Amino acid sequence: MQRLSVVILAAGKGERMLSKKPKVMHEIMGKPMVSYVVRRAKELLPTRIVVVLGHGRELVEGYLKEFDVECAVQEEQKGTAHALLTAEESVHGDDVLVLYGDVPLIEGSTLNDLLSFYEKDRAVVFMTTKVENPFGYGRVIVEGDRIERIVEEIDATPEEKEVRRINTGICLIPGELFGLLKKIGPDNRKGEYYLTDICRVAGQEGIKVRAYDHPRASEVLGINSRKELLDANITMKDRILEAHMGSGVSFLDRNIYVDADVTIGKDTTVYPNTYLMGKTRIGEDVTIGPNVLIRDSVIHDRVSIEGFVVMEGAEVETGAKVGPFSRVRPATVLRRGVEIGNFVEVKNSRLDEDTKANHLAYIGDSEVGKDVNIGAGTITCNYDGTRKHTTVIEDRVFVGSNTELVAPVRIGRNAVVGAGSTITRDVPEGALAVTRVEQRHVEGYGRGRRRRCVE
Ligand code: UD1
Ligand code: CA
Repeated sequence: MQRLSVVILAAGKGERMLSKKPKVMHEIMGKPMVSYVVRRAKELLPTRIVVVLGHGRELVEGYLKEFDVECAVQEEQKGTAHALLTAEESVHGDDVLVLYGDVPLIEGSTLNDLLSFYEKDRAVVFMTTKVENPFGYGRVIVEGDRIERIVEEIDATPEEKEVRRINTGICLIPGELFGLLKKIGPDNRKGEYYLTDICRVAGQEGIKVRAYDHPRASEVLGINSRKELLDANITMKDRILEAHMGSGVSFLDRNIYVDADVTIGKDTTVYPNTYLMGKTRIGEDVTIGPNVLIRDSVIHDRVSIEGFVVMEGAEVETGAKVGPFSRVRPATVLRRGVEIGNFVEVKNSRLDEDTKANHLAYIGDSEVGKDVNIGAGTITCNYDGTRKHTTVIEDRVFVGSNTELVAPVRIGRNAVVGAGSTITRDVPEGALAVTRVEQRHVEGYGRGRRRRCVE
């Protein structure tokens, strides 16, 4: 086969999104929509991928850095043919597959089918589809499998408007016919250079343009509005869930959001209304939810994350248990067998093997050893109003309930902190530290009190 380059058109503003952001940067399941198109293009192993940028190009170009693609700049958006021509130097002589940055649901198998169709009889090919309501799309006027012309909504006659076969925009142009684009003029009501006019130009030279019809319109139609963005999210979400189920993950409801880059191991079960986001990686035999949000975290095998946990930027090692109702903040590491219970917040801290903080605690900027017991109401006072300080709790320490550990402070191994203490100095290894005032009794005090509350 001839060398193939892919050009992704993404210079348009996307007026109907009513957004400050360029359209292709709007996210679908946690990633800008253009990233899906780039990924599909990469799977085809083309010679090069060129993304045509215009509106908000700094933002898009910055984002595309991690993808190793070329960018061409269309300074002024003068139409799709004009956009494609900005990539001319990059694609020189290659056959060109045109994709749209705002058609993110396109599947690899569809593109492969299109390419097989193309290879059988190389010609300009447009992918078409049939829709109930063709409003706004280019109508494709065919004769057999030959496209006579494609008419945009604004230029269409009433009869042409009745045509329900529409142009998806995705097309293939053989390298030797790329030059036809230069013969396209802006003679239409919008005054734009329409890529679709290649049909007319080719016709004048006796060159045939072919149509490849795709049966599933919802996959090949672009996103123009917030509503279509939502619909695309729902479609992509279902695809992602199905892919995970296909590799051995159980979901107890469809109301579970899993961002595109999240990985989940076999025999993991996810309960309803759970959000697994960003670059989260989850191991095997994990249970999560219901009502859990996990972002950019690594969860190892056999971990249990119970209901209403919010976690971000954390690592949870094998067999640990978190929740219900825990908040785990960035740079937290929970080692094997750790248990974090309800209303426990942990931030930038490491809890070593088998340590437990089962109720009502704040552990921030701390290094906590193995087999430590943190009582209910324990607070590491890590912030003095200006700076953050570290609390070190060594192995097998027992921290009694309702205790403040004023950082910087170190509790030595095997030490015990008595309930209700405020610890401001280091506690030596094995010692008991207590700071509360001694209990005293005032004899007879309660006897004379009037009983106010009667049935
Ligand atoms: C285009 C097609 C139409 C088709 C529809 C499918 C033309 C003339 N019309 O119409 O037949 O049914 O797509 O969605 O091709 N773009 C640029 N630079 C430009 C103009 C557009 O990069 O100067 C990019 C946009 O970012 C977008 C794509 O090209 O990704 C399509 O542009 P858009 O303005 O949405 O075209 P439509 O009018 O929808
Ligand atoms: Ca207290």
